Amino acid sequence: MGASVPRLEAGGSNERVVEGLREHGAVIVEGLLDPELLARFNAELDPLLEQVSPDRSYLNPAIDFFFGDRVRQITGVAGKSRIFGEEILCHPFYGALCDAILGPSCSTYQLNVAQVMDRGPGAEQQLLHRDEDVWVHLPRPHPEVQIASVIALVDFHAGLGATVVAPGSHRWERGRQAKPEELVAAEMPAGSAVVYLGSTIHAGGTNATAADWRRGMHMSFVVGWLRTEENNYLSTPLEVVHTLPRRSQELLGYAAHDAIQAGGGYLGAVDLLDPVELLAEGRL
Ligand SMILES: [Fe+2]
Repeated sequence: MGASVPRLEAGGSNERVVEGLREHGAVIVEGLLDPELLARFNAELDPLLEQVSPDRSYLNPAIDFFFGDRVRQITGVAGKSRIFGEEILCHPFYGALCDAILGPSCSTYQLNVAQVMDRGPGAEQQLLHRDEDVWVHLPRPHPEVQIASVIALVDFHAGLGATVVAPGSHRWERGRQAKPEELVAAEMPAGSAVVYLGSTIHAGGTNATAADWRRGMHMSFVVGWLRTEENNYLSTPLEVVHTLPRRSQELLGYAAHDAIQAGGGYLGAVDLLDPVELLAEGRL
């Protein structure tokens, strides 16, 4: 049997999505953002993207090479988009997946990074990679620590640079390289998402069109005891954090990771208290 990525409808059984992730390492979920939410989110992003240059500098030359100079990014989305902060960040679909897959390995999970990636004409395929390799010091084998996704904000097709995924690669030996026939382009209508494990090999695809942009958003979650890729506390202005739903505050990392019940300790406290409570009490 050739490589395949299961395709499911949002609003159906989340257990089937979880099973698909465990079995194949990736699942396409259609209709995750309904058309009305998608339209409002895109309208909010339009002026933000106009201010972004694809030719920017990054933390170091390796990141610069990875992203190239044809990609427009919006980072710290929670601080810039009300719709993201109020409706997408705390979307119950992600909660169900994180509860099932990350839940057994942590007391709470958190947003790792949300980043709009508008890949322009000529953007070449990224290096195939596993997102969890940012935590290269984490000993292996280890339980899944990350649930990642790319939400299609326009229709994704292969020629536009739909994310390519190597189904089953979460089970592969570390050194195994994906052959071309083992890669699947996550073609899907706007509002869908390809959800994958941190251990699944994938890459942003080549945008071979002459003039079309592949607007998508990477959104990933991680166990609450690992350092996040984006520094979400600093990327989201505190005055914005105050106005977000409590669940979104928790997912941005303002909830202490309290593992006392599990025989551990707590992480992320402020003055030995839980920051999300301090926010609620107006003390932060
Ligand atoms: Fe990635």
